[in-house]
Amino acid sequence: MEFDLNKIKKSAQEAIEELASPEKLEEIKIKFLGRKSELTELLRSLKDLSIEERRKLGPKLQELKKELERSFDKRLKDLRISHSTLRERIDVTKPGHKITSGHIHPLSKIEEEIEQIFLSMNFSVVEGPEVEDEYHNFDALNIPKDHPAREMWDTFWLRQNEIKNQKSKIKNPEKLLLRTHTSPMQIRYMEKNNPPFQIIVPGRVFRYEATDASHEINFYQVEGLMVGKDMSLANFKFVVEEFFKKFFGSQKIEFRFRPSYFPFVEPGVEVDIKLGKSGKWLEVMGAGMVHRKVFDAVGYNPNDVTGFAFGLGLERLAMIKYKIPDIRLFYSGDLRFIKQF
Ligand code: DAH
Repeated sequence: MEFDLNKIKKSAQEAIEELASPEKLEEIKIKFLGRKSELTELLRSLKDLSIEERRKLGPKLQELKKELERSFDKRLKDLRISHSTLRERIDVTKPGHKITSGHIHPLSKIEEEIEQIFLSMNFSVVEGPEVEDEYHNFDALNIPKDHPAREMWDTFWLRQNEIKNQKSKIKNPEKLLLRTHTSPMQIRYMEKNNPPFQIIVPGRVFRYEATDASHEINFYQVEGLMVGKDMSLANFKFVVEEFFKKFFGSQKIEFRFRPSYFPFVEPGVEVDIKLGKSGKWLEVMGAGMVHRKVFDAVGYNPNDVTGFAFGLGLERLAMIKYKIPDIRLFYSGDLRFIKQF
């Protein structure tokens, strides 16, 4: 039997040295050590040899096999290591990726600011449901059915099948709507709590209206309610002026309290502010002293307690503060808008 063990060894070792990828090396390993390799053939043919020849050749072949296996494994290990370090190597001269951070929506920002100011004046922040019943949104606020004031709030009424799963949560399930203002939370809060207290209620409200630069079908309000003994319009004036001074910071600010009408307050007022020297008068808030009928509805004795309430539009304040010309921008999802905040 003629063969050259050295030749096999040499060509295998050359191949091992040459190959630079772990995958290719596996292929070559099969070629030299696999079932059809020359070495395996030789080992297989040992059985046809005489005993002496077998004794002489057998150990040599086995030894070569082991040696090649060791070389393959070592090379494979080295290659794997160098390949992984290759992948992790960082080219510090390459341009980096720009890191972009998100932005807080201007309305969230304004809401947070307003909450902080009122918290600093010892108010609590509470929230109420966006799906309301007719009783809390209207009747209990002294706006009974057929009251002309209902026209102040163009309402999204909910269809019966849309409201089934809300039923359990809401008192008067026959007629549900998307709340047209945050005032119903005055009722909900007073039903469960006793005066004295002072709260604000930020939240989303809905109006069935055509949209334009100053109207949206959904927007945000912050309701305020302070009830106790001997509360007066003077208390209201102090709290509101204090709030706006803090909200607009260092700017000079003037106030005007105009008589107005809302069914749930008596007297009702509207608050206008004027910023800076050349500013225009801007209406920023509806308010008033809580109506006796509202106290009646929640079981308070109107002879014992008094209080004031107010409601302001979050978008309107944000528009004034940041000089935003169109309310629809808030909900446009336009990144060029959001990125400015
Ligand atoms: N709820 C009123 C609205 O949406 C705003 C308002 C006016 C709230 C007077 C009040 C208030 O609490 O006293 O138009």
